[in-house]
Amino acid sequence: MSLEKRFPQKRAFITGAASGLGLAICKRLARRGWRLLIADINVERLDEADRILGELGAEVEKLVLDVTDYTAQEKAAALLQEKWGGVDMVFNNAGIATAGAIDELTLADWERTIDIDLWSVVYGCKIFAPMLKAQGGGYIVNTASSAGTLAGPEMAAYNVAKAGVVSLSETLKTELSKDNIGVSVVCPTVFVTSLGETMSGEREMEGNLIRQLQRSKVTADDIVDDIMSAIDKNRLYVITQSDAKWGWRTKRFFPELYTRIIGYFYRNKKWIYSR
Ligand SMILES: NC(=O)c1ccc[n+]([C@@H]2O[C@H](COP(=O)([O-])OP(=O)(O)OC[C@H]3O[C@@H](n4cnc5c(N)ncnc54)[C@H](O)[C@@H]3O)[C@@H](O)[C@H]2O)c1
Repeated sequence: MSLEKRFPQKRAFITGAASGLGLAICKRLARRGWRLLIADINVERLDEADRILGELGAEVEKLVLDVTDYTAQEKAAALLQEKWGGVDMVFNNAGIATAGAIDELTLADWERTIDIDLWSVVYGCKIFAPMLKAQGGGYIVNTASSAGTLAGPEMAAYNVAKAGVVSLSETLKTELSKDNIGVSVVCPTVFVTSLGETMSGEREMEGNLIRQLQRSKVTADDIVDDIMSAIDKNRLYVITQSDAKWGWRTKRFFPELYTRIIGYFYRNKKWIYSR
């Protein structure tokens, strides 16, 4: 069944909506006539996103918020209730990247990464799942990363946060199935966005990752194609690019071999993010 037939009121909430994947999701939904509550911490970019989406003819409400603030996310839910009587799709998408070896990552790095990349998604699910239940159904899309499934070296904090998002989504997929609520978790490898700006680049792995983010030929729009297709089919895992699929299958079918291959590539500087 098409998205609009399932959700005729076409109301969506998107965090990290001012840039990259969040903005690409908003543009796609705007073209399909959805009403959007867009949220982001970056005021200027959120204003610009509002303008762009307005030009596409969308009805847009914007909210400057920090996703690590539980009360701010509660206010977003209250606003949706007040303006449109609820919400149909929730995209817990805002995030940052962190990289570095275990001895380089500071406790502050760990806390910031877990707060923004994991706690924010926990908050979003905790606040919006009851609202969707009360409405009789809906859909939650959590943006994780292939980092959460592939556990590459020198990215421990990011990997742990994103693995938490994968696990949370897996749990809710079954738990909320009795409430007519769909769940998808997005696990891409690298695609072009502003994500590199969230890292200083001082550590070797951060510099490598920033270069990969700049070089990638994959766009946020490509990832949105896969997300929309997964929602249509009510599929949990959105494993996007071919390298993400290779890693996902190899790790699942041959877990020990997988870690040996990645370790070998990494030690010999052949690991994609070591270049
Ligand atoms: N770009 C990639 O290669 C890639 C790969 C895998 C996963 N992801 C994930 O995709 C999601 C979107 O990132 P992107 O690549 O579009 O990057 P991006 O930097 O272009 O967009 C992220 C947005 O999140 C916002 N944001 C950051 N911290 C916030 C906070 N505390 N409160 C509210 N908003 C906040 C930023 O202002 C920005 O607009 C993230 O969760 C990221 O981890 C990205």
